Amino acid sequence: MAGEHSAEPVGLRERDRRGRAATAVAHPNIALVKYWGKRDARLVLPRTSSLSMTLDIVPTTTTVALAPGMDADVVTLGGEPLTGEPLRRVVAFLDLVRVLAGRRESAVVDTRNAVPTGAGLASSASGFAALAAASAAAYGLELDATALSRLARRGSGSAARSVFGGFAVWHAGEGGGAEGDRTSYAEPAGAPDFDPALVLAVIDAGPKAVSSRIAMRHTVDTSPLYPAWAESSAADLAGMLAALRRGDLTAVGEIAERNAFGMHATMLAARPAVRYLAPATLQVLDGVRALRDDGVPAFATMDAGPNVKVLCHRTDADRVAEAVRAAGGCPALVAGPGPGVRVTGGEP
Ligand code: PMV
Repeated sequence: MAGEHSAEPVGLRERDRRGRAATAVAHPNIALVKYWGKRDARLVLPRTSSLSMTLDIVPTTTTVALAPGMDADVVTLGGEPLTGEPLRRVVAFLDLVRVLAGRRESAVVDTRNAVPTGAGLASSASGFAALAAASAAAYGLELDATALSRLARRGSGSAARSVFGGFAVWHAGEGGGAEGDRTSYAEPAGAPDFDPALVLAVIDAGPKAVSSRIAMRHTVDTSPLYPAWAESSAADLAGMLAALRRGDLTAVGEIAERNAFGMHATMLAARPAVRYLAPATLQVLDGVRALRDDGVPAFATMDAGPNVKVLCHRTDADRVAEAVRAAGGCPALVAGPGPGVRVTGGEP
């Protein structure tokens, strides 16, 4: 049940508090009310609040080991050294952790994804949630779940939500600067009896052409539809929270689907357009509608990529996965609500 996954991240053992090395595991989340657009890029303060389901599949495992003798951080992803912009983002994040912890040591970071990175399966969310928890533990930073969520947010906005299991709401917060930073965090969204499946149609597992960071900035700057979507998103969130409390899959799905289509509409109206939806995306969307016509409650959402995620009852998950595979000619994975980030180990 989703409620089982709403617990706060486990506390650190005493020996881990002193720092040195720590490993953390985090799972991706899929937004049912999307985050799309920042009001402050440096602090990663969003323009709207969002809500997601943390998955129970395809986790990221990250180990951060302090390396006092080294003069730069070394970061590997799946055993390969990270370079360029992805490395710069991790180093900038570690710099933030070092400032907060009052420490200076470089670190060796080893991170492994159970799925290809940048495939629209939210690996940046699980990645920065795991990095936040592991680096905070390694540098001896004691953070409660809210503070950990605020820290993860600075790496990638959606990572703020992967700190929590089950369903999480990320509050946009108020104002800018220190006030914005303090008030923009995720927390569990009450959904005690809601235990759906999310079927992931993996249409393209390769890295996306345009990063969500760049696409959302371009959308906010140029799309005449953006303000309307941002305004309607507040009502979507209120309706979503009520539907989750009722465990009403149809209401949750209808709101999630319209919110996602609206987000993609803002991108299509950007100048020039940003289009993530591929021919196979539309085929899967047709398949989802056909399922509904057959009386199977199934609802689609799409992120910054061509993949489709389909919300349905657990009991319909196999049928939905088969329909999605047939419609899109692609693999499909079945997920349920999963756990929040966990620190799983530290060096004695
Ligand atoms: O956290 P980012 O910068 O990868 O942005 C995520 C944006 C979406 O996945 C499209 C929506 C969301 O709320 O997760």
